[in-house]
Amino acid sequence: RPRVLSGIQPTSGSFHLGNYLGAVRQWVDLQEANDAFYMVVDLHAITVEQDPAVLRQNTRISAAQLLGAGLDPERCTLFVQSQVPEHAQLAWVMNCLTGFGEASRMTQFKDKSAKQGSDRTTVGLFTYPVLMVADVLLYQADAVPVGEDQRQHLELTRDLADRFNTRYGKTFTVPEPYILKATAKIQDLQDPAAKMSKSAATDKGLVNLLDPAKTSAKKFKSAVTDTDTVVTYDEANKPGVSNLLRIHSALSGLSTDELVAHFEGKMYGALKTELADLFTEWVTPFQARTQQYLDDPAELDRVLALGAEKARAVASETLAEVYDRVGFLAPK
Ligand code: TYM
Repeated sequence: RPRVLSGIQPTSGSFHLGNYLGAVRQWVDLQEANDAFYMVVDLHAITVEQDPAVLRQNTRISAAQLLGAGLDPERCTLFVQSQVPEHAQLAWVMNCLTGFGEASRMTQFKDKSAKQGSDRTTVGLFTYPVLMVADVLLYQADAVPVGEDQRQHLELTRDLADRFNTRYGKTFTVPEPYILKATAKIQDLQDPAAKMSKSAATDKGLVNLLDPAKTSAKKFKSAVTDTDTVVTYDEANKPGVSNLLRIHSALSGLSTDELVAHFEGKMYGALKTELADLFTEWVTPFQARTQQYLDDPAELDRVLALGAEKARAVASETLAEVYDRVGFLAPK
């Protein structure tokens, strides 16, 4: 079975709709026919300052949401990154293979560090993409399901896998990105030019999965569209409406063509109301399942401990091979 791997940051507790449609939904589908490894990346989270108690809680909330979204620990390996020490260990080796200029060209780093200023930007944030490279290569992943914003990091992953293989002999599988065009970039409901993100200036366009459904329904109803009134799919000229149509399509299973026909003669308000209802219908049971896992932290920790054990079995094998190839003495 092909191997897939992906990760998500626990940074702010609730996932948003972009995380779900861009990535997590694919994780759930892919666990059926693949050997799937999914993790909450708490090592990545501390590249910006975290309150320890909040981080611990957000890591549990994240794992609970992944289970609530439909990950099944019988079918996939779900774990927390810091519980598998090989991630940090392989990251060091990959850091020593990465060019300073190469890392400096990562656009997410450039954006984030420009916002923070260089004194608040950590070296950890700079090498963040290299840790992600290690995450993927440790598991010899064939495919990595992510949203569009992670594409450049996966190109780096492929480059570094090739570089290592060339220098030390074939060791790593060179992974393919798994990015579904229709949902790869969910936009902010207030600013359709920007991707939905927790770091937006206001959260009015951000749909948090754990917010009360009513709050999110309101956000859909006040989504920014345009001064036209006809519901058509046109990314260049009607980015707001097109984003709403893409979200509707993802939740309803209807194609955007079918939706345009469905909304013929109706105004934007009809699209927004229907979308609010569709989302509420999906999110209500999602929240209930997530809450069940949060109400039983012992069971949650048991699932994660088992996941970490399964992950380590794979990760430690790769790391041992890497250490050997690089020329480290084998431990006695
Ligand atoms: P993170 O935590 O920022 O986001 C998790 C996933 O959600 C996707 N995503 C989106 N998709 C569509 N539209 C959006 N508006 C949107 N916003 C976020 C992201 O592309 C991602 O797939 N570096 C990664 C986590 C990571 C990882 C890995 C991923 C660490 N190690 C190894 C894959 C493999 C990140 O910060 O994702």
